[in-house]
Amino acid sequence: MLRGPAGLRAAALDRCHVRAELTGVVERDTELELGVAGALPDLGDLIAAGLEVHEVPVPEDVPTGLEADAPILVAPDLLVRPPWVPPLQGFAGIELVVPRGMAFGSGEHASTQAALRAMHAVWDDPASLADVGTGSGILALYAQRRGCPFVVACDVEEAAVRAARELLPGTVVVLGGPGDVPGPVAAVVANLSGAELHEVLADLLRLWDRRSFLILSGMRAGEEAGVRARLPGEPCRREAVGGFVALAYPPAAPSGR
Ligand SMILES: C[S@@+](CC[C@H](N)C(=O)[O-])C[C@H]1O[C@@H](n2cnc3c(N)ncnc32)[C@H](O)[C@@H]1O
Repeated sequence: MLRGPAGLRAAALDRCHVRAELTGVVERDTELELGVAGALPDLGDLIAAGLEVHEVPVPEDVPTGLEADAPILVAPDLLVRPPWVPPLQGFAGIELVVPRGMAFGSGEHASTQAALRAMHAVWDDPASLADVGTGSGILALYAQRRGCPFVVACDVEEAAVRAARELLPGTVVVLGGPGDVPGPVAAVVANLSGAELHEVLADLLRLWDRRSFLILSGMRAGEEAGVRARLPGEPCRREAVGGFVALAYPPAAPSGR
């Protein structure tokens, strides 16, 4: 049970989503009841700031509803799993461990999988990358895992920004849209709805310096033509998963002399 100011409870919940095996959450007006398998993460700074933590042990065999969770194989050498699912035995590819928290982007949604597949297919070691609409931070995490030296992320939802900051310590996560992100950057990835993509497309194109790829995901197949019509050239890769499409645009060709 967590009691204290709402901001401290929210920060503790975000940390538990990322750093603990959460089995349940009940939010009340002035307190938060969490089910946690195993230990709580270090909440020392929040306790010092006024958070009260009351721990009550429960029997180990109480069903949590999470027993059926399994790793999600996005590509033969790329998987996503929540922290409470054990690693897949013998798997030698890239593993992204992402909690199923308050922000979109656990790896279950088709638009996330399409975006990840497109990133995985066209990855060319960009010097910098912006993840627009980062949600949980899953696409930025992929870039970090591939060794991208400068990753920046943004989201208009505070809960997403908090979750991404927990998942990606040390990464700049901006509360705002692509126009608020420091740039330009070599690669841009945005998993947004078709309407949201249209709204921010000019800002995405300003942010992208075309040294590496641009990936737009989250549009429905019926929205694809409208998005394509506003972009320079043709995509070099198209991934479709469960009715959602991701388009990857290549870097600008080097100017020949
Ligand atoms: C479909 S989710 C994608 C989350 C994650 N990137 C993924 O691929 O699973 C879209 C996210 O974009 C955010 N969003 C919507 N419009 C936005 C905008 N104009 N600028 C930045 N973020 C935005 C939403 O709050 C949401 O977290």
